[in-house]
This record gives sequence, structure tokens and C-alpha cells, in this order.
Amino acid sequence: EQKYLIAPSILSADFAKLGEDVDKVLAAGADLVHFDVMDNHYVPNLTIGPMVCKALRDYGVTAPIDVHLMVKPVDSIIPLFAEAGASIITFHPEASEHIDRTIQLIKDHGCKAGLVFNPATSLSYLDHVIDKLDTILLMSVNPGFGGQSFIPHTLEKLAQAKQRISESGRDIRLEVDGGIKVDNIAAAAEAGADMFVAGSAIFNQPDYKVVIDQMREQLGS
Ligand code: DX5
Ligand code: ZN
Repeated sequence: EQKYLIAPSILSADFAKLGEDVDKVLAAGADLVHFDVMDNHYVPNLTIGPMVCKALRDYGVTAPIDVHLMVKPVDSIIPLFAEAGASIITFHPEASEHIDRTIQLIKDHGCKAGLVFNPATSLSYLDHVIDKLDTILLMSVNPGFGGQSFIPHTLEKLAQAKQRISESGRDIRLEVDGGIKVDNIAAAAEAGADMFVAGSAIFNQPDYKVVIDQMREQLGS
């Protein structure tokens, strides 16, 4: 597997031409598609659901789809996303009544499972479940909107999460999401991140390949 993965967040894509835009970003060198699901309850915004994920699969998207659930409650939507073609499903511990059960539910449906930490959420949620996780996602902004600024304290937290992953001895991806740009991606990698979500930094530029190439250059890969 590749050392570093770039996951464009389609929150900043053109929703009126979503299939085309996703094809474009994958052709530009993206590794997977980051799919932000917001419910106007857990976060103050409303986006897309399983039908749109299924539509992308039907359109011909074969890249992994990384579904970031910002919804509460979370369990009922998991089977629908698995059926719709999700590859990875991540959720926020605050949105689940029973975190271990939610992780198991994701895995029982054949997807990789991840836990998402808001900027003020303690990594202690990892304590009894880290052995079951495929991904740990640290939010570097408060969830709900694209285009916000990277919160610098995330770097310290990434290093702590990286340490937890090393101690576990397991192969767990460390994903960072929010405000990632060409000029801070190297710092996030240095702190331990190996999977980078970027929405506005990629989709707000006319040539996605230029940005993705610059990001890879920063990552030295
Ligand atoms: C925020 C979402 C992010 C967002 C990132 O709640 O989880 O994935 O789209 O967008 P940028 O890269 O613009 O901060
Ligand atoms: Zn996200």
C-alpha cells in the first residue's frame, strides 16, 4: 500500500456535475474519494446520503469511497452506505450510543471502520477500541463546513495519535481532515498523518492535477 493517500473532499466539488468532477479529480491523481455526510443535527449543515454514493458507483467510480459520517444517530445509516458502495466508514464517538457496537456494525457490513476526533475530543476514546480500527481521523477544523482554517493544535494531537498507533502495533491509517493545503500538508505528515483530506484546496483550483502534484511534492512521494 502507498505511504501517503490523498483524499479530495467532494464537499467542495460541483454537485451539479458530481460524477464528472469526481472522475476529473481521480484522473488528476487522487487516491480515494472523501464523502462528507452531514445531517443538520450533529453538524449545522446538510449534504449528501447513500443515494449519491450509489449514484457515483453506478456512474463508474471504482476508487475507494471514504464516507465520513457527521450524523446522529449513526447506526441506522451504516448498512445503507455499505450497500451503496462505501469502502471506509468513519463516525464521531459522540454520535454513537455504543462505540464498539458501531465499529462492529461497519465491519460486519464489509467496510473498513474509523473513529473521528473533533478538535476538542479526547483521544481517550481510543482506549478500548483501537485494536478494532482501520482508520483514525483527526479533524483539524470543527466539522460542518469546507474552507475553514487548519487548527494548529492538531499537529500535537496527530503526534499523540501516531504514538498510540505505534504502540498498538497495528496497521492503522492516520487521516487528517480540515484546512489541509499545499503549505501545511508536510507539517501534518511530519506529525504522523498518512491520509490527507482536502476539499477547497483542490476543488477551488482550476487544475486539480497541479494541486495534487504540489501536495505529493511536499510529501516527497
Ligand atoms: C468538514 C469536512 C471536511 C471538509 C474539508 O466538516 O469533514 O472534509 O470538506 O474541507 P477543506 O479541505 O476545505 O477544509
Ligand atoms: Zn470530512
